[in-house]
Amino acid sequence: MTPTLLETSTSDAGWDLYDRIADALAGPGYIRLGYVVPEDIYAHLIRRSRQLKRCGGYRRAGVGRDREYRLSGKVRGDGIHWLRRDQWLEAGYLDWMETLRLELNRRLFLGLFDYEAHFALYRPGAFYRRHLDAFRGQSNRRVSTVLYLNSDWSEHDGGELLIYPEHGDTPVERVLPNHGVMLVFLSEQVPHEVLPARRDRFSIAGWFRINASLSERVDPAR
Ligand code: OGA
Ligand code: MN
Repeated sequence: MTPTLLETSTSDAGWDLYDRIADALAGPGYIRLGYVVPEDIYAHLIRRSRQLKRCGGYRRAGVGRDREYRLSGKVRGDGIHWLRRDQWLEAGYLDWMETLRLELNRRLFLGLFDYEAHFALYRPGAFYRRHLDAFRGQSNRRVSTVLYLNSDWSEHDGGELLIYPEHGDTPVERVLPNHGVMLVFLSEQVPHEVLPARRDRFSIAGWFRINASLSERVDPAR
């Protein structure tokens, strides 16, 4: 089956939003949404992502945590900046995610206990090879989110997100990192990849986590 390049212009926000996300996580393991983050918060995030670029706020991202952390240009080439609650341009998004966390817990009993997120900037040529955001039982990340902060993104701009089946090399979905688009997926089960971008590609990647003391390995704060 040829995966489709999906575009979204209409809003998926509404009373059944949380049900739809929960159903998708319990089913295929991922969902692609359009314009679910409130407009004012979204506008702040766009502003902040550009401001961070101007002031050199992005740092090369690494792979792994703590002692296993390393910079690896062969795996990923994006620059990141962690969101903080004491930055008002960022706090609104973290609050919105807090609601999503509670609603998912009510529906799926996942025991998600917090959310961490970073802005990411993929400059031309940057990519992120196929990966899982968490290895089963070895991390406290359970649910991943990605929100895109770009306008007028076309196929010529590269930087598509490919979603793969858990076992298999043929993408089940190709997503242009366009305005308003948000993905939610299971961190341990949905392999994905970012193709090389041809222009600056802005996004926020984030993870709902379970309490570290419940997981097999200690996963200290960054
Ligand atoms: C990540 C990631 C996807 C994207 O940061 O782990 O997979 O489309 N990002 O930016
Ligand atoms: Mn990822």
